[in-house]
Amino acid sequence: MSHDPLPIEQLRTAIADRLERSRRRTLALTSCDDRELMAQHSPLMSPLVWDLAHVGSQEEIWLVRDVGHRVPLRCDLDELYDAFQHPRAERPALPLLGPDEARKYIAEVRDKALDVLEKSPLEGSALIDQGFAFAMIVQHEQQHAETMLATHQLRKGEPVLFPEPLPAGVVGTRRGLPSEVLVPGGEYAMGTSIEPWALDNERPSHTVDVRPFWIDTVPVTNADFTRFLDAGGYDDPRWWSAEGWAYRQKAGLEAPLFWTREGDDWFRRRFGAVEPVPQDEPVQHVCWHEADAYARWAGRRLPTEAEWEKAARFDPATGRSRRYPWGDDDPTPVRANLGGGALRPAPAGSYPEGASALGVRQLIGDVWEWTSSDFQPYPGFRAFPYREYSEVFFGTDYKVLRGGSWAADQVACRGTFRNWDYPIRRQIFAGFRTARDATTAEVA
Ligand code: AVJ
Ligand code: FE
Repeated sequence: MSHDPLPIEQLRTAIADRLERSRRRTLALTSCDDRELMAQHSPLMSPLVWDLAHVGSQEEIWLVRDVGHRVPLRCDLDELYDAFQHPRAERPALPLLGPDEARKYIAEVRDKALDVLEKSPLEGSALIDQGFAFAMIVQHEQQHAETMLATHQLRKGEPVLFPEPLPAGVVGTRRGLPSEVLVPGGEYAMGTSIEPWALDNERPSHTVDVRPFWIDTVPVTNADFTRFLDAGGYDDPRWWSAEGWAYRQKAGLEAPLFWTREGDDWFRRRFGAVEPVPQDEPVQHVCWHEADAYARWAGRRLPTEAEWEKAARFDPATGRSRRYPWGDDDPTPVRANLGGGALRPAPAGSYPEGASALGVRQLIGDVWEWTSSDFQPYPGFRAFPYREYSEVFFGTDYKVLRGGSWAADQVACRGTFRNWDYPIRRQIFAGFRTARDATTAEVA
């Protein structure tokens, strides 16, 4: 979706296509047998069958009832599938809809939602202007697809998901690329007031001043991270914050989640298959504390959220902030590894066509990137359409992640998109890149 409004029928088709794509993905991720869907694969996650009905319940609440003013289908499900009512660990004990009931329910909701879409003027109120509520629900379903992939990754047993190859020609190497890129200091426009489907926490656009800094051209790789392991980084409190070290001790952290050592070699489990850790791939499944410790060991630091966004969006030729690193056009398979098919990040140095104006690679797709920043509202923030999407999470408990992983769909990933999680979370598809302040001599 571009900044410029589409003619209404094209907009309707664009929304219907995205609803259809997200549903295909939801169903594919829940096509395994009922036992797998009902099981709790980790106390950190819901049973897959909870996510399945939850996406339908949110769609009923927002599209069928709020936008469409239609007769409710199942008010009795509101409470059951309200994420704030029941922590994930307790969800298996709830009287959840079974897999077939859940599929039937979400299909009935979708029928009604498509009818609401057909009849909506898609303008006249903030909720429906340019299809916002529909796009919000698509983004919600796609975010849950990524959550379901994290559940699949935690699941033990024979593989049930199989990867699609990355397009030929996008897979590259960091050889020949500079290790870091200089981002000039000065003002730039952070966030957005014009992106039609941006969520409340991305708004409004506001001017931010950053000092000149250097940022890694590519995300930190498994090879890089292994050097930190080999140097005893997990056993040296010098590299860790006090909170990070306490957590490292308590949780017994020794390597990224899903890694095991055999002799001198590291292996990882990926969607049920065990394989050698690929050297060139961006590291995944490290928590914020591990990223923070690595950066300190490397004599560097995590970028702030504002720095990350400037590296991704700032165009020095025009002074404008782009929608994406490569420009204003939507992602394509040669610009970014998105959509979840690959089941992995692409090697560092891939996607030359996805580079930012300054030459930073793989900012969108591959891995979510931890930033040093707490999840806080932008100046002028207004909760919309409900406080529970973002506002209740603002504060110092959550760290911001940027850029989207290979598991994110392009509808739920933009230059301005903000994700957040606890600094101890490791099951998400998150890695990081590092930064450092530029010296006066370097910017002169
Ligand atoms: C934006 C990924 C942190 O999964 O908790 C899903 C997205 N919000 N349902 C989450 C979300 C409500 C959210 N994150
Ligand atoms: Fe949700």
